Amino acid sequence: MAEPEKKPSMSFGRYQVVAELGRGSMGVVYKARDPAIGRMVAVKSIPETFALEPGKREEFIRRLRQEAMTAGRLQHPNIVTIFDVGETEAGPYIAMEFLDGVTLREVIGAQKKLSLRQLLEVVRQVGEGLDYAHAKAVIHRDIKPANLMIVQGNRVKIMDLGIARIPFSELTKEGKLVGSPSYMSPEQLQGQKIDGRSDLFSLGVTVYQCMTLKKPFPGENINEICLKIVHGKFQPASELRTDLPPGFDAFMETALAKDPDLRFQKGAEMIQALEKLLEAKPQPAEPTASESVSEGVPPRPPAREDFAVTSNPNLSPTSEIDDIFRDLTTTHRRSLTLGDGRGEETGIGWVVWVLLALGLGLLAAVVLLWNSSH
Ligand SMILES: Nc1ncnc2c1ncn2[C@@H]1O[C@H](COP(=O)(O)OP(=O)(O)OP(=O)(O)O)[C@@H](O)[C@H]1O
Ligand SMILES: [Mg+2]
Repeated sequence: MAEPEKKPSMSFGRYQVVAELGRGSMGVVYKARDPAIGRMVAVKSIPETFALEPGKREEFIRRLRQEAMTAGRLQHPNIVTIFDVGETEAGPYIAMEFLDGVTLREVIGAQKKLSLRQLLEVVRQVGEGLDYAHAKAVIHRDIKPANLMIVQGNRVKIMDLGIARIPFSELTKEGKLVGSPSYMSPEQLQGQKIDGRSDLFSLGVTVYQCMTLKKPFPGENINEICLKIVHGKFQPASELRTDLPPGFDAFMETALAKDPDLRFQKGAEMIQALEKLLEAKPQPAEPTASESVSEGVPPRPPAREDFAVTSNPNLSPTSEIDDIFRDLTTTHRRSLTLGDGRGEETGIGWVVWVLLALGLGLLAAVVLLWNSSH
């Protein structure tokens, strides 16, 4: 992986860039410092608007501000908070809550499947966040693993809420489509009117992928993917993973029903269905990565408090809850050592160098000893 790109002199309004956090189809996300209150923020820059014609650019920025305002009104522990929206000569930007965590895309990329208990926690928190947003008539439109982040304290945060409504189609480069249709609902792909149930379909696709590491509607190209989502069947998850409880396939069928009326109507319904599945199949006491949730582990009856997540962000979670995502966040720690732009403030880099120096020292000592004995 490339070295983290450090641009110390870069700033967006009053936000001073500290590091690059990641890149998406619409621009770069930076970690930045707000000197006014000494807080770290994440700044999403959208430089490609420069490619737009003047009239369209104005309209784009107007929509961006409008959507940021909508998203800014949402206050929920499972939704990333939007602080600010602004514009520089490099293009517009959105300043938001900085999350130190790991996205589900990174977890999938590290080939880690969620355990059922971890899945319930993800669905519970994302489902609650979505129900809250939908009740305020805000639809996400781009729920996918890259937009769901696990942060400290076992919190799952929904990112980019509302932002997907900005007409990014105008930001397509020649021959390149922004965003991935793999997580979109049939009605969204067909340009029909959508409601919150479309987000729940996208959450269903995410669930399937987090449990099997495969997308339910894979394809070589966009046309094939779209055709499958609108008309095709998906392979039962139980054929891809043996430790799923009976009823998981039926759960997926409801989550991914083509007809929104046949789907889970609310996040709460999806959470309840998953809770029932877990009651049917007790999980081991210690949360583990999927590979270790195997037949050989002695089951224990599920304790309700294991699944109780406080909706009050000020209450610290119980130590058991605090451990649920431990094996997933090591994904993040590993990526820090690879230098994805977050490592520079964590102090992990020097540990690697010290270990390397010790190793070299040991090697030199062995060579010297060998030389002196021969
Ligand atoms: N608030 C945040 N705090 C910390 N990191 C963030 C934050 N928002 C985004 N990131 C990081 O920046 C990366 C890029 O985010 P971005 O939303 O631009 O693209 P994406 O969602 O990964 O993909 P796409 O642009 O195709 O939707 C994310 O994967 C994440 O690692
Ligand atoms: Mg995103």
